[in-house]
Amino acid sequence: MQVVHSTTGLENDFGGALVPTMGALHKGHEALIRSARQLPRPLIVSIFVNPTQFGPGEDYERYPRDEEGDLALLREEGVDAVLLPSVEEIYPEGASTFVDVERLTDGLEGAHRPGHFRGVTTVVAKLFYSVQPQRAYFGRKDAQQLAVVRALVADLAFPVSVRGISTVREADGLALSSRNVKIDETNRATALSLSTSLMLVADAFEAGERKSRVLRDIVRQSLALSQQLAVDHVEVARSADARTVDAIDAEVFVAVAGTVGGVRLIDNVTLDPSTGTADRGTRLTRPSILYGGS
Ligand code: PAF
Repeated sequence: MQVVHSTTGLENDFGGALVPTMGALHKGHEALIRSARQLPRPLIVSIFVNPTQFGPGEDYERYPRDEEGDLALLREEGVDAVLLPSVEEIYPEGASTFVDVERLTDGLEGAHRPGHFRGVTTVVAKLFYSVQPQRAYFGRKDAQQLAVVRALVADLAFPVSVRGISTVREADGLALSSRNVKIDETNRATALSLSTSLMLVADAFEAGERKSRVLRDIVRQSLALSQQLAVDHVEVARSADARTVDAIDAEVFVAVAGTVGGVRLIDNVTLDPSTGTADRGTRLTRPSILYGGS
């Protein structure tokens, strides 16, 4: 496995698959890598904790980092190259060009984290430009990010096919996230309330409920039982453009975001009215070993 600290060091002929990450890799990342491991090669994973997608007072400094553990996992997964660029390379001194996707970034996470998506789309555009992948893999847990990246690709005509991969959950339902290592035992039950509420929504949808208001109320009532959770938002939004909707006539995701013990968590389920089914993610059978974090 090639490990490079600069995009100029990549020895590939371009093409292939890219899995962009911020490291502290877990089984959710493993699922992205395993999907990407099917053709085309080479398979490149980038690890870069991107400062511009963290707002003031957010956890950039405290974000879990574990380069050694990440590299061991990537070697085991048969990745061809790992790109670990420096902040100085991605954002050279005086850099003043950013990529901003409008409208899709106004609501949900965009409303709570001003500037977050501008940071995401800027770094993703730079990675696409330097690696030039044929395919790129993103988790459906970040459903709005997925919609925003698809818009970026369409609007700037990047020749890359974006694949969204189902959320991976712990056996008890908690969506995997690098930040989970920061949830202590006392907060764990509260953190679980996010996925529990979304499973109730999935049940209601599969039983025929199509009104957003009713689905949102199911989540809110379920979350109200968890007094330690500070809820940021509960929304039903179209998968295609992250716009909130009243009735479900195209694929949507029901998104919930909140803070537990100082850790901000997001989760969602995708609802597809054409099949009447929900994508609840896949559950691990045993508690996951987190590869990163402290
Ligand atoms: O989803 C993430 O881990 C990040 O937002 C991404 C896509 C790697 C950009 O920094």
